[in-house]
Amino acid sequence: MSASEQGGMERHQYDVIVVGAGGAGLRAAIAAHDAGAKTAVVCKSLLGKAHTVMAEGGIAAAMGNRWPEDNWEVHFRDTMRGGKMLNNWRMAQLHAQEAPERVQELEDWGALFDRTEDGLISQRDFGGHKYARLAHVGDRTGLEMIRTLQQRTVELGIDVFMECTVTDLFKDESGAISGAFGYWRETGRFIQFDAPAVILATGGIGKSFKVTSNSWEYTGDGHALAMRAGAALINMEFVQFHPTGMVWPPSVKGLLVTESVRGDGGILKNSEGKRFMFDYIPEFFKSETADTEEEADAWYEDKKNNRRPPELLPRDEVARAINSEIKAGRGSPHGGIFLDIASRRTPEFIKKRLPSMYHQFKELADVDITAEPMEIGPTCHYVMGGVEVDADTQESAVPGLYAVGECSGGMHGSNRLGGNSLGDLLVFGKLAGEHAAKKVSGLGANRPAVAPDDVAAAATSAVAPFEVEGGENPYAIQHDLQQAMNDLVGIIREGAELEQALADIEALKERAKQMVVEGHRQYNPGWHLALDLRNMLIVSESIAKAALAREESRGGHTRNDFPKTDHEVWGKKNLVVTLNDSGDGVQLSEKPLPVMPDELKKYFEES
Ligand code: FUM
Repeated sequence: MSASEQGGMERHQYDVIVVGAGGAGLRAAIAAHDAGAKTAVVCKSLLGKAHTVMAEGGIAAAMGNRWPEDNWEVHFRDTMRGGKMLNNWRMAQLHAQEAPERVQELEDWGALFDRTEDGLISQRDFGGHKYARLAHVGDRTGLEMIRTLQQRTVELGIDVFMECTVTDLFKDESGAISGAFGYWRETGRFIQFDAPAVILATGGIGKSFKVTSNSWEYTGDGHALAMRAGAALINMEFVQFHPTGMVWPPSVKGLLVTESVRGDGGILKNSEGKRFMFDYIPEFFKSETADTEEEADAWYEDKKNNRRPPELLPRDEVARAINSEIKAGRGSPHGGIFLDIASRRTPEFIKKRLPSMYHQFKELADVDITAEPMEIGPTCHYVMGGVEVDADTQESAVPGLYAVGECSGGMHGSNRLGGNSLGDLLVFGKLAGEHAAKKVSGLGANRPAVAPDDVAAAATSAVAPFEVEGGENPYAIQHDLQQAMNDLVGIIREGAELEQALADIEALKERAKQMVVEGHRQYNPGWHLALDLRNMLIVSESIAKAALAREESRGGHTRNDFPKTDHEVWGKKNLVVTLNDSGDGVQLSEKPLPVMPDELKKYFEES
């Protein structure tokens, strides 16, 4: 910290600080503001440039606009089954019950959804959902959500600190949240927030993997901030590989190809031209999945037959099948598999329903998806694990610290259904904002205070990479971390490889202690990465450690050496990750799953 800064560091007082300006952060900020709290959003990117836009296909909500039979109970059941029953049942219930109202509200605030023939909000098919229930705006639903929430945030006059990264949280001597510390990316100058409630809405962790659909912000900041503040993470072993990312050209490898392509009729083929998904229908979903091409195709004509095409199995099943075909040597020229909608839908249909995909492939790969198949392969897309929170309030074990959206855990269990993340952001964003505001108003004048020593320590820690002499460049460490996570903690895992990953991460942690940053604090991407890497390393260790401990296969965690799903032992507990006592690594413990009440258990009796 420079001398002048010590005397006059920028400092702000709020009731509620929201870290992150994706769908969850903006919805939480709106709710906190509406509940009377003085609220600010702090985001490391530009307002409007959130990764939420990458949830392209739609918001899952049982509105019943296409299927009057749909209701929250069916959505709840689908979500739990998709998560292989490891979901926090209460979160899945709240989500299914409240998502329709949140979508309606978004429309009231100006979101322009596609319509049914009767003028209702249109809903499309996605994997694992029994009925067509994704409210959508072409294949740009996340973008429309951000546009709408951003407009409302600005309209309400909520303060936004953009291109401002939070690096530390403060607590008072009782252990309650008292504020946050960060820096402006442009100037490198520090900033202090005094606030008794902080809502983490920082998204995911995908940038720790080499091939990912995630954008640069996804470095596990909220996960790591929460751990360092004393909160726990759950479900960290479960990482979702979206079945369809671009594989070519190399500069865009991993970029998302929306599940809407399959929802709208696209099929998967291997290099022999075989529609291979029929070979990969798991026992669990046999009764509801078509097992011949004729039956699968008939479903598009008359969805009442209720046996869906295997391309619309949950993502974990489809990603594993694609991976197996590629490994068996039946992949496409650039190491993927073929996704074909051209031979099944007219160019007009494709351009209307999937305009972004049409442009994405045309501009980036010179492929016309109305005339030829796409080459796609799995890409790291989402982490089911995150901060352990109370289902009804989203508060963590640290008083005043909340987490929502991808950086919270529990809602999706071991595997998230497509479309459930946008619903999650809205439902739990609102709850977190309301409860944070309520908590702060209950404090009256007794607000936790920020200790000046903690501020000084945060500043010293932030500039530490400038002090090292002859150390290593952060980009080299990031490269090796991404490679290790990709090769050793990827879609198919094995004990020995996970042990190797943990050894690699330990070595990277040592190298990171000697990380050096050149230059000064004004817009210095090397410094930004050095600070982000601390988070990426801790989150990667959490994933690898939990993955090694869970000796079964379930959802987004597949063990070659433990291929079975073990309902008796592993179906009844969560793995909990916390920081160890010395703060230089993570430790694991086990916790029984919350017990589902009998009135909800009945939905699973026949399955
Ligand atoms: O495929 C997609 O459009 C992604 C949606 C999601 O992750 O929910």
